[in-house]
Amino acid sequence: MPVPGPGYSITVRLEAPPSASAAGDLTSAVGRAGGVITAFDVVESHNDRVIIDLTCNALSANHAKDITDTLEQLPGIVVRKVSDRTFLVHLGGKIEISSKVPLRNRDDLSRAYTPGVARVCQAIAENPEDARRLTIKRNTVAVVTDGSAVLGLGNLGPAAALPVMEGKAALFKKFAGVDAWPVCLDTQDTEEIIRAVELIAPVYGGINLEDIAAPRCFEIEARLREKLDIPVFHDDQHGTAIVVVGALRNALRVVGKDISECKIVVCGVGAAGSAIIRLLLKQTPGDVVAVDVDGIVHRDRPGMDPNLASVAESTNKENVSGRLHDALVGADVFIGVSAPNLFGAEQVATMNSDAIVFALANPDPEIDPMEAQKHAAVVATGRSDFPNQINNVLAFPGVFRGLLDANANTITDEMLLAAATAIADVVDGDRLNASFIVPSVFDTTVAPAVAEAVRKVASELKAAERA
Ligand SMILES: NC(=O)c1ccc[n+]([C@@H]2O[C@H](COP(=O)([O-])OP(=O)(O)OC[C@H]3O[C@@H](n4cnc5c(N)ncnc54)[C@H](O)[C@@H]3O)[C@@H](O)[C@H]2O)c1
Repeated sequence: MPVPGPGYSITVRLEAPPSASAAGDLTSAVGRAGGVITAFDVVESHNDRVIIDLTCNALSANHAKDITDTLEQLPGIVVRKVSDRTFLVHLGGKIEISSKVPLRNRDDLSRAYTPGVARVCQAIAENPEDARRLTIKRNTVAVVTDGSAVLGLGNLGPAAALPVMEGKAALFKKFAGVDAWPVCLDTQDTEEIIRAVELIAPVYGGINLEDIAAPRCFEIEARLREKLDIPVFHDDQHGTAIVVVGALRNALRVVGKDISECKIVVCGVGAAGSAIIRLLLKQTPGDVVAVDVDGIVHRDRPGMDPNLASVAESTNKENVSGRLHDALVGADVFIGVSAPNLFGAEQVATMNSDAIVFALANPDPEIDPMEAQKHAAVVATGRSDFPNQINNVLAFPGVFRGLLDANANTITDEMLLAAATAIADVVDGDRLNASFIVPSVFDTTVAPAVAEAVRKVASELKAAERA
């Protein structure tokens, strides 16, 4: 059951009588309405009244309104203003640029800008590789979107995608010191997106594609990887795949199974599912059975696009057909990146003993985790209000830190696997259990561990290419 969380947090400024019972009346009214109070501040006090800021978590925007209405109905209470704390955080945007050099006098100016900067420009013109040494390129990533698949909300366009991209940039900085900048493109044409990224690439040490819908995202990423000499990474695909593979490694440790003996059902063969399957196959699992909205993916299925056809070729050893419920019978692992409420506890009961269920559709998973727990040994979701949250924040900051530190020109599946293993290994044997298969997103050791693992593989690749 959902609980009120900080995503819908309001601060209600209200006038109350200065009586001893006012605070109790207000807090119990919020409780009756189902809200959770997180702060109670008296901001002004007078003989005849007090002004209070009451901050509480709600379930939704409508629930926040119900709480405010309940407060307003109390005798002597006047609601002056309601602030949505999420919107307050977004006023004026979430990131900014700051200068790293002093600009106090003409001396400073002459070095940081003209005339001094001219010599640096000439040096780079003579030796373009110097851009990585003498400019922001070595630490800067473009977060590129066309706004076509924004969170779980769909095609909202580039402007509406900006708050997500700003958030992503803030996370890059916070967790890995990477300077990321949102690039929201006003086009959803594959060729235009590719060309636009190609044109801006000189500034950046890496490209993080974000919230670009499948199947367009596959072609855009593949073609940009061919064209550019910097790594291109679609987080919805590979960030998810890294964390899922890392979490699965630990889940299998918990139940004592080897991936080579496991039948893994992956439900959803879009951006996330395709990349998960690709990375899983690198670990030679017993079998992978992919399922999408039209059922099990098999080699004789008509009308498959190139992505599905390649999944069909490399999965489903026995070429079975059917629906999700058929695929689950005898499976060891379910990984869902598809749609809400597709099955219940009775289908988990048909899986092998010690089943692992990752139900990652957001915000509502493929199966209610409480239902899944009835028969599964390990359950994970994409949600922060359950244990084992599969969150891309565990991967992308460290991945780019490692790539930038290695001056990487490309990204490979071996780097993705190294990142997955690094995330898994942060959870040492003493802490590993069915409710703790991935580290906390606030564990400050994760990004450095991922960065070092990726840097090592990327540096080895560069050295091998030079040899
Ligand atoms: N860290 C995480 O928890 C995480 C990461 C990535 C994606 N997700 C979630 O996974 C879901 C898919 O994301 P995506 O970007 O890959 O989307 P997508 O649109 O690219 O792909 C969706 C896939 O789900 C399949 N699908 C839809 N309805 C289905 C049904 N009823 N039965 C079986 N398959 C069905 C579609 O056929 C498609 O293959 C979303 O809910 C997203 O929020 C979670």
